[in-house]
Amino acid sequence: MSKIPYFVPNITKKDILNVTNVLKSKWISPGKILTKLEGSFAKTLRVSKAKCIGVSSGYAALFLAIRLLNLKKNDIVLMPNINFVASSNIVKFFKGKIVLVDAENKDNPNISIKDLEKKLSSKVKAVIICHYGGYPCDMQNIMRLKKKYNFALIEDACHAMFSKYNNKKYLGSFGDFAAFSFYANKNITSAEGGMLYCKKQIDANKSRILKNHGLNTDSFTHSINRYHKNYDVTEIGYNFRLDDVRSSLLINQINKIQTNNSKRHKIFLNYLKLLKLNNKIEVLFSDYKSNNYSRHLFVILAKNKKKIQNRLKLNGISFSCHYKPINQLKIHKNRKKYKHSSYLFDHMISLPIYPGLSYFQIQKICKIINSN
Ligand SMILES: Cc1ncc(COP(=O)(O)O)c(C=O)c1O
Repeated sequence: MSKIPYFVPNITKKDILNVTNVLKSKWISPGKILTKLEGSFAKTLRVSKAKCIGVSSGYAALFLAIRLLNLKKNDIVLMPNINFVASSNIVKFFKGKIVLVDAENKDNPNISIKDLEKKLSSKVKAVIICHYGGYPCDMQNIMRLKKKYNFALIEDACHAMFSKYNNKKYLGSFGDFAAFSFYANKNITSAEGGMLYCKKQIDANKSRILKNHGLNTDSFTHSINRYHKNYDVTEIGYNFRLDDVRSSLLINQINKIQTNNSKRHKIFLNYLKLLKLNNKIEVLFSDYKSNNYSRHLFVILAKNKKKIQNRLKLNGISFSCHYKPINQLKIHKNRKKYKHSSYLFDHMISLPIYPGLSYFQIQKICKIINSN
């Protein structure tokens, strides 16, 4: 194991006690703890409780959103070239036509409004955006374009629990759908898990059916009624359920999310302070100084990326890369030019950031970077 891991989940005694209590109870499948979790999540996001649906992963949330669009073969979906591969894999699975959009700038991986506008037409079925590292896309312009071209908007908010736009509305509450991930390295985790937000109640209701094999009822309802209702299957569904064991691990983390995000904010400020004299690197989103963001990633752009990576490796410090551009992945390859995405990929290094990262550890990481 690295001396400084890239990520350490923040699991407390209370979280473990919550899980133990569910394991000792008579109910471990999706039930009242999941319902409680959906309520807490919706309250934090400031949306209606009935519109948040706990699912088995961020991928499952994105998959359901895309399925609910009723995507047909060759339907056009625009999405950022710098993103995790989930959205592009799903659109490809549904045989949609993926149009990749370059990054906003050489220091902002979020979707470029200029390139988006160039590629939009009335034929575009949907636009997927990702709030990279929890930093907001330009929602004012995206909502303006949505109105003009009438596309469905999916927010990949897997990094953005819970970031505000312009100090007001939470990311993940703008679009027709939003996906959140509870994967192990996320700001809130149940090892695997996710949350889908649907703007329309009808989509929320349908997604509850789709995530449970298309059944028009579920085991918890049976247990309350103490008999097995004469069920039916109304849709070709999936198993994308989130159970009460995982939900119990999330409840307390949601209550603590602002505290933990503030710790990440402090780490971000300490990194900035310790790296500020280094003119060979640039910190992404260094101007985003308010405590309004989830700070899921801390990314530097380095002129001497390879050298820094080697030194971090030698010193047992883990790092990552978010992300290799989608157009450079074998399965989604195209030879078009995405100059900002390519530049970002050639220079970016993601450094450790999590509530338990100490000032001493940050000093150590920065010393290694500054010594190059
Ligand atoms: C931006 C983004 N989108 C989607 C996903 C997929 O989430 P999950 O791993 O929970 O399926 C992730 C998770 O790594 C992600 O970071």
